[in-house]
Amino acid sequence: MGRFEGKTAIVTGAAQGIGEGYARALGREGANVVVADLNAERGRQVAKQIVADGGAAVFCEVDVSDEASAAALAAFTMETYGSIDHVVNNAAIYGQMKLDLLLTVPWDYYKKFMSVNLDGALNVTRAVWKPMSKGGGGSIVNQSSTAAWLYSGFYGLAKVGVNGLTQQLSRELGGSKIRINAVAPGPIDTEATRTVTPGNMVADMVKQIPLQRMGTPDDLVGMCLFLLSDEAAWITGQIFNVDGGQIIRS
Ligand SMILES: NC(=O)c1ccc[n+]([C@@H]2O[C@H](COP(=O)([O-])OP(=O)(O)OC[C@H]3O[C@@H](n4cnc5c(N)ncnc54)[C@H](O)[C@@H]3O)[C@@H](O)[C@H]2O)c1
Repeated sequence: MGRFEGKTAIVTGAAQGIGEGYARALGREGANVVVADLNAERGRQVAKQIVADGGAAVFCEVDVSDEASAAALAAFTMETYGSIDHVVNNAAIYGQMKLDLLLTVPWDYYKKFMSVNLDGALNVTRAVWKPMSKGGGGSIVNQSSTAAWLYSGFYGLAKVGVNGLTQQLSRELGGSKIRINAVAPGPIDTEATRTVTPGNMVADMVKQIPLQRMGTPDDLVGMCLFLLSDEAAWITGQIFNVDGGQIIRS
């Protein structure tokens, strides 16, 4: 029996990369998985693959920055599987993001970026917490980044926000028996990272990491599923780095 047998898990941004890794792992551990993403073509493929591997999954197209779209995701999940037990807020603008400064990034782009990368996690949480609560509670994992502890402009600022959101929401959700935590990965070798980070920058980053390599989506799965599971029953409002030792915080 998998740890998530009979439970329903929504993973946003699950059409590729890290989110796909989380969705497939949840599928292997028995969850009914909702692969939620803007990218319908790739999202459908991920859901199909989870089913082909013996799991249960459906795709749902969602824009995490849109209130009606998040409400539709929650309604679709309830209609399809009858409960929402776990949510991973992983979606973000990342692979194709503009490389610019806080001081100069076009204002409209900045507002759109924050509406997805920061507000998206709040928007989806606002859409799911009532059905989660009615079902007896559950758990949420927000995808942060070590970028929150390093200079990385508006990308890092959004992740600082995700950390704060995780801490603040833990107080508002605790009474409904909903736990919320964040995973802060170091640099992970995904298609998106290869698009946004030049090879020489990767080599420099790796030199600074005690474990001397980039991470993989599989390196993150253990922490994410632990935090979602009952093994973490007394953990909420926390941010966990999974980063090969990249960050030392005092
Ligand atoms: N790759 C890394 O090095 C790294 C490190 C730390 C944190 N992260 C974080 O992990 C997450 C995934 O990273 P990745 O490398 O897999 O990136 P990715 O770009 O491959 O995946 C992001 C996914 O989010 C989806 N998405 C974008 N906007 C959306 C929206 N408005 N609504 C719904 N879905 C939307 C995309 O279609 C894509 O499938 C992101 O939150 C990223 O910030 C990545």
